[in-house]
Amino acid sequence: MSQFIMAGTSLLILFIIFVHALFYRATVLATPSCDGRRIHIRKLPRKFNTDILFKCSTVDPFSPNTCIHLRNSGLGPRTCNRSRSWYRTDHRFLEPFFHRRLLDYPCLVSDPSLADAVYLPYYAGLDALKFLHALEDDHEHYNRSVDHGKDLFDHLVRHQSEIWGRRDGHDHFLVMSRPAWDFSQSPGEYMWGTSFLEIPEFFNVSALTLESRSPAYQEHAVPYPTSFHPQNLFRLNRWISRARISSRPNLMLFAGSGGGVNAAPNIRQSIRNECTDRGDLCEIVDCSKEKCEHNPMKYIKPMLNSKFCLHPSSDTSTRRGVFDGIIAGCVPVFFENSTALSQYGWHLDEEDYKNFSVFIPKEDVVFGGLTLAKVLANIPLKKIAKMRERVLELVPRILYRRHGATVELTNIKDAFDLAIDGVLKKIKKRLGSI
Ligand SMILES: *[C@@H]1O[C@H](CO)[C@@H](O)[C@H](O)[C@H]1NC(C)=O
Ligand SMILES: *[C@@H]1O[C@H](CO)[C@@H](O)[C@H](O)[C@H]1NC(C)=O
Ligand SMILES: *[C@@H]1O[C@H](CO)[C@@H](O)[C@H](O)[C@H]1NC(C)=O
Ligand SMILES: *[C@@H]1O[C@H](CO)[C@@H](O)[C@H](O)[C@H]1NC(C)=O
Ligand SMILES: *[C@@H]1O[C@H](CO)[C@@H](O)[C@H](O)[C@H]1NC(C)=O
Repeated sequence: MSQFIMAGTSLLILFIIFVHALFYRATVLATPSCDGRRIHIRKLPRKFNTDILFKCSTVDPFSPNTCIHLRNSGLGPRTCNRSRSWYRTDHRFLEPFFHRRLLDYPCLVSDPSLADAVYLPYYAGLDALKFLHALEDDHEHYNRSVDHGKDLFDHLVRHQSEIWGRRDGHDHFLVMSRPAWDFSQSPGEYMWGTSFLEIPEFFNVSALTLESRSPAYQEHAVPYPTSFHPQNLFRLNRWISRARISSRPNLMLFAGSGGGVNAAPNIRQSIRNECTDRGDLCEIVDCSKEKCEHNPMKYIKPMLNSKFCLHPSSDTSTRRGVFDGIIAGCVPVFFENSTALSQYGWHLDEEDYKNFSVFIPKEDVVFGGLTLAKVLANIPLKKIAKMRERVLELVPRILYRRHGATVELTNIKDAFDLAIDGVLKKIKKRLGSI
């Protein structure tokens, strides 16, 4: 059964990509607004993209139903039959979704020599899984994560090598929908991750990741996809209005997992302890048993009912919940700059954070005895309302609208558009400096 769904979904995506490939050949080359923004989609053998989707059932050995999240070009199935804008989005499928959105991009060129940037439709994060989860008897992949991407590089320099050669790959970019750490294993070390971003073959390529290293070399962070993907302006505005008038009796919310009682003192644990003690001020949405991102109803309502959303880091600094919270108009509370401020410069202005978020240094909470309630309950309601208004103004910038949206909505830049603007600028700067 799941084999069928899997094959069906992938075939559908293949078909859509094929139909669009026919179309984009004919798209206009010369509208003035395309100056400096022309993108060529590099043709790659199916093993670098669509074939990987056929293996969706291995994406997550713990969640056999992962394939259904490929529906709607990677947005996932709708949350329910009546829902139009809400999907069960798995962030790892941002790679095929980004590919799908690029097919709608107005400044595509089929001739690579006219392009300002070359997009590689390689689903790098999904392909990395065969290394990340390899079993010991899988000699091709176990301890071979230094090989991640080598077959891609071979292809790029052997076939139509002039496309790579023209600018030594400096104009190439791809999407890797995981934190950059997952691709930063030093060759020769056997730690978590592959070496894609650490091997010289890809030093010249720009990568869009969900979290960047510090300092970042090839990569720049783009927002995690949320579950909200409106297709027209009416639905976007209606949602923002709903979030604006929501009554929010609850002071603060933590949606996530981790911070167990036996761990060393950490910010998650402090949050859990305080929330358990002060159930009147704080709500916890427990995501340890079920992946919350597959069931947005579970946390969006509580976020709509809360003034503040708490965003402690965990294994890695960033978290998708930051963006889910913004969608719900829940003012973010950060404990470290690396959670968002130092990551998403293309989408959220560093200077703007004081306007829409609260910063509480984690040390003050974990070791200094500061309680969150003390800080947050003392912020005047008027100020909270102002911050929330700013949060809601940011919603269009951090959401990924559905592909095939109406013109009214495509006139407003979303997370995808800003990522493209950012990567074009990054590539231009790179080309200027070599
Ligand atoms: C959703 O729609 C499908 C097909 O139209 C139907 O079979 C299913 O029962 C519906 N589910 C719910 C929860 O209404
Ligand atoms: C494989 O990786 C493990 C660590 O996961 C390491 O201890 C071991 O030496 C590696 N084996 C080989 C053959 O390199
Ligand atoms: C990367 O660019 C430099 C020049 O900036 C070039 O010397 C080098 O060969 C390029 N690397 C690859 C793998 O093409
Ligand atoms: C976080 O960033 C702000 C704004 O850039 C800066 O003023 C502050 O010193 C940073 N805090 C830490 C702990 O790095
Ligand atoms: C932050 O708010 C202030 C005061 O409203 C405003 O002047 C400033 O432009 C805002 N910053 C950004 C980056 O939007």
